[in-house]
Amino acid sequence: MISFTSFGLGLLYGVTAVLSAQQRTCGTTISDLQILESQKHFSQHRRPQAAAVLRKVEPIDVYFHVIHRDRTLDGGFIPDAYINDQVRVLNEDYAPAGLSFNLKNVSRIENPTWFGWLGPYMETEMKRVNRQGGAAALNVYTVGFRSGSAAALLGYATFPYDYAANPLTDGIVMLYSSMPGGVTWPYNLGKTLTHETGHWLGLYHTFQGGCYGVGDQVDDTPAEASPAYGCPTGRDSCDEPGVDPIHNFMDYSDDSCLTEFTPGQITRLRDQIATYRKIVDAE
Ligand SMILES: *[C@@H]1O[C@H](CO)[C@@H](O)[C@H](O)[C@H]1NC(C)=O
Ligand SMILES: [Zn+2]
Repeated sequence: MISFTSFGLGLLYGVTAVLSAQQRTCGTTISDLQILESQKHFSQHRRPQAAAVLRKVEPIDVYFHVIHRDRTLDGGFIPDAYINDQVRVLNEDYAPAGLSFNLKNVSRIENPTWFGWLGPYMETEMKRVNRQGGAAALNVYTVGFRSGSAAALLGYATFPYDYAANPLTDGIVMLYSSMPGGVTWPYNLGKTLTHETGHWLGLYHTFQGGCYGVGDQVDDTPAEASPAYGCPTGRDSCDEPGVDPIHNFMDYSDDSCLTEFTPGQITRLRDQIATYRKIVDAE
């Protein structure tokens, strides 16, 4: 099985071009070709959520791993309030999808190397040593992204389809100061974790493939030529009908501009996690 983990592809190649800009930069990248491959597997093995009407899905356990350089806030030693507020934002944003998140554990790990930057080997090690739970458990590692090819990243995630081949690297790595209360304005209302969790649940960027590529495999998100920044109301970057989905959590707009998933995304993510994470409707 081919691994579509963001890491090697996104961080080492795709992301470097935009690092100098103070703009949202997500390291979760995937090629159109890989999407088609993944989509083929999905259509052959798809397990739809049982109910035709939206029902609540089993709560998803969340394990937070606070990687810090020292015991200062600047060094990533965030207060519990950041984490509680972040999980509250996650629950608000995913309530319309019938999903809920349950903070299961917070572990604090002092490791200046992992905090500053993670080469591919180190990120694997960080996850291998600390990851908890199975395919259905959301592991979030907060780090500083201070140097190397990761500087200025807000986060990156693995896709559900990746889990079978790479269970130990499953999860989300995120900038600690993107959490509610953090200093990374205009990306400090907690929407980075909502966005990265979208990938973890099987969603792609709304601008995937631009106007003419394979898109995000969701019918009700109009194609977009490139990521939106700020909150450009009325932006319409492709000929196809519909303005750009700038308020969609899977775009790159400012946190205050990101407010929604579409019904098509909700159907996709629920079926993705039923298929690949064994997260199904609650009884
Ligand atoms: C949380 O996880 C850490 C690391 O595995 C463990 O030492 C700690 O006992 C856990 N805490 C709870 C409340 O389960
Ligand atoms: Zn992303």
